Amino acid sequence: MDISNNTVLITGGATGIGLELAKQFIAKGNTVIVCGRRESKLKEAKLSLPQLITKQCDIANIDQRRELYNFCIEQFSAINILVNNAGIQREIDFRKGEADYVNGENETAINLEATFHLTALFTPHFMKQKESAIINVSSGLGIVPLVIVPIYSATKSALHSFSISLRKQLENTTVKVFEILPPIVDTELDNGARDKSGQTNKGKKKKKVAIESLNAISKDKFEIPIGLVKVLKIGSRINPPLFLKILNKKTPVQPL
Ligand SMILES: NC(=O)c1ccc[n+]([C@@H]2O[C@H](COP(=O)([O-])OP(=O)(O)OC[C@H]3O[C@@H](n4cnc5c(N)ncnc54)[C@H](OP(=O)(O)O)[C@@H]3O)[C@@H](O)[C@H]2O)c1
Repeated sequence: MDISNNTVLITGGATGIGLELAKQFIAKGNTVIVCGRRESKLKEAKLSLPQLITKQCDIANIDQRRELYNFCIEQFSAINILVNNAGIQREIDFRKGEADYVNGENETAINLEATFHLTALFTPHFMKQKESAIINVSSGLGIVPLVIVPIYSATKSALHSFSISLRKQLENTTVKVFEILPPIVDTELDNGARDKSGQTNKGKKKKKVAIESLNAISKDKFEIPIGLVKVLKIGSRINPPLFLKILNKKTPVQPL
């Protein structure tokens, strides 16, 4: 697809991979809107990238998702790309009963429901555009789960399945469906969990992830595994137990 002269909404685009995608899209002559909950991060992003349009929004909230959609359609009617990027990752230990599950943010609402709902809101508008795209950011953990973040891994697996169905539903329309599957990336997604567990691998540079993703999108490569996820995709089919073991080696389930 042509990756210039588009109008792009990136959820969670004030930090991390989303912000790098925003930078790359802007560098290629696109208009970019980002949303997030923290006003401070939106302001920081705008300072570093003055062309950026920012909008505060909690995508876990159904009314705020509708408000975001209305804002985009009313002010940027040419909008034709939605990047479902916002996400959180939580360690949840089911051996403790409901404690971890209920005390904290709703991963399913942020990582999954928001993607479903925003996709439903924007798709009819996108179908009227000459060319448009929905870009879902899933994860290598959607292919092989990291056991200590079970809901996160499950939401990413679901996003992978959803991307396949959506691509097929929309194949005779102007809407292209892409899925970016990053490996470990140097962002704050894990809230310092990697440091805590003594991991020295900070992962792939987010700029490289963004550049590789846009390059693949420009060539209409719809499924975009980045770095080691390419190995994970093939290896997990050949020997699932081995890849589950390798992936979970550095962060084993601790005894209670
Ligand atoms: N880093 C990795 O190793 C890695 C690997 C594979 C996939 N990914 C995926 O990449 C995507 C981006 O993550 P990242 O690594 O760049 O981490 P990040 O810097 O923490 O980015 C996540 C963004 O999502 C936003 N967000 C979270 N909850 C939100 C909500 N309810 N409403 C609106 N915005 C919300 C956050 O902003 P606020 O908190 O201000 O709302 C933040 O800007 C995620 O989907 C993640 O699962 C990351």
